[in-house]
Amino acid sequence: MSELLSPEEITELKRQIAAVHEPRELIVEVLQAVQKQNGWVSDAGIELAAELLGLSPLQVDEVATFYDKIYRSPVGSKVIHVCDSICCWTRGAEMVYGHLQQALDIAPGETTSDGIFTLLPTCCLGACGNAPSMRIGDRLYSSLTIERIDAILDEERQEALK
Ligand code: FES
Repeated sequence: MSELLSPEEITELKRQIAAVHEPRELIVEVLQAVQKQNGWVSDAGIELAAELLGLSPLQVDEVATFYDKIYRSPVGSKVIHVCDSICCWTRGAEMVYGHLQQALDIAPGETTSDGIFTLLPTCCLGACGNAPSMRIGDRLYSSLTIERIDAILDEERQEALK
């Protein structure tokens, strides 16, 4: 059916979709499966998800483009989501965002030349009490300072190069 997902993944997603009353409930899960396998969700990925869910590609893309952890363009192996919501903004998010752009030599939305980091803004990460915060992959980093950001980037880069 597709090279975007394995036959086993497609079978499992079909089972999950058949078990819910409303397939729309699983749009994000299907998109996440495509993204996990491919790094991002291409137009072909949207079409595959729509076919599996019995929805139109537009219905699926509306969710994909709303949800900022679904990537509709290629990204690096590690995506940095910098919180720009109110608590972080009042506690140094501008400094964090500025330093990341300088340290990585990229603008928001861009990927580093080594293909490791993509930098994106995001809304509240739920760590307001320890603002400013950012998320890289599944890891949440808070109480950020310039020194801490540099150490985190080093660690994450080393991990990506393994
Ligand atoms: S405002 Fe940044 S984590 Fe909540």
